[in-house]
Amino acid sequence: MTREVGVHRAVCPGTFDPPTNGHLDVIGRAAAMFDELIVATGVNQSKKRLFDDDERVAMLREVVAGFGNVTVGTFDGLLVDYCRAEGIKVIVKGVRTAGDYDYELQMALMNRRLTGVETVFVPAAPELAHLSSSLVKEVARFGGDVSGFLPADVHRRLMAKLSA
Ligand code: PNS
Repeated sequence: MTREVGVHRAVCPGTFDPPTNGHLDVIGRAAAMFDELIVATGVNQSKKRLFDDDERVAMLREVVAGFGNVTVGTFDGLLVDYCRAEGIKVIVKGVRTAGDYDYELQMALMNRRLTGVETVFVPAAPELAHLSSSLVKEVARFGGDVSGFLPADVHRRLMAKLSA
């Protein structure tokens, strides 16, 4: 099988506010599929962020430190423009539920229509499918224990942020 030039690189984009164990699972599985994976934090206009860009990049760097082929990037415009600038032809997104799929499919089709970039969906591990950054923040804000849902450094940062 021949591969198109550039397909060995992929981007795993998200808000990552903060990165959860669910994100980490998808990142690890995507890293095993591509030679090079860029985990990139972008802006979802409909989400209010708790952590600033530098904090989210710092958390992601800690989280991906164990993977030899994963780097961290950031973008503040269209994902397709970032892909074009970085020579990336594949986007990887984790999907937990049918609701996720509906939303992700529409974005995937739009991104493909805009520049031809393809999206690969990775189904979330069932034991992690309850995780979302938004829910983890909400549970933590009301004093629930979220230590099992986040990488240890991320949990520490979240606790510090909420108690500041
Ligand atoms: O973690 P999220 O919130 O699902 O990440 C969504 C994100 C940031 C990847 C998405 O909103 C995005 O690509 N934003 C950049 C702006 C853009 O390209 N919008 C058009 C999408 S079709």
